[in-house]
Amino acid sequence: MGIFAIFASHMSLVTLHNKQFKPYILADVIHERVSQVAGNLSADLKNSFPLFVVVLNGSFIFAADLVKMLKFPCEISFVKLSSYEGTGSTGKVHEIIGLTETTENRTVVIIEDIVDTGTTLEKLHDLLKHKGAEQIKTATLLFKPMAYKKTIPVDYICMEIPNDFVVGYGLDYNGLGRNLKDIYVLA
Ligand code: IMP
Repeated sequence: MGIFAIFASHMSLVTLHNKQFKPYILADVIHERVSQVAGNLSADLKNSFPLFVVVLNGSFIFAADLVKMLKFPCEISFVKLSSYEGTGSTGKVHEIIGLTETTENRTVVIIEDIVDTGTTLEKLHDLLKHKGAEQIKTATLLFKPMAYKKTIPVDYICMEIPNDFVVGYGLDYNGLGRNLKDIYVLA
């Protein structure tokens, strides 16, 4: 956590609902890590014509930045799942918007904002396997290794963080904070 916090120390706190958040990961650092992952995805998948499956809502900014850096043919689709209320995982996942694109015999890349317990990821992974995907990879902006309870490999990780609640760059606290360009952590 330290390295991100030091660079952001001159910035101010933000209040979302009843909680205060302090700067944690600056936009420049996020951009650098996203481009590294874009480079890795390009090297591995440029000849696979993959389908990117973006998990809404939280992944929308990450996905938009990431796909602009990919210079190879690909398709992009969106699903909406949720396992979260407030600052604690409910353990329940609801599929709200289903997948309509063909996944059979394809390389599919799940794009997540954050992998916490892994419940959302596992659910989507199972669904895509059931729909005949040949190869399923996962790319996430943030990964909380200490919270992760599943065995599915998380292949592309921009940043690992401790078990803290974060907002910004697409991530919210009860609907607020998604539009912050930097990532903030509970103060
Ligand atoms: P999981 O199913 O427990 O892995 O949780 C994944 C989902 O929970 C993410 O896609 C987020 O929507 C939400 N989530 C987990 N941790 C955080 C956080 O620190 N801030 C905001 N949302 C989070």
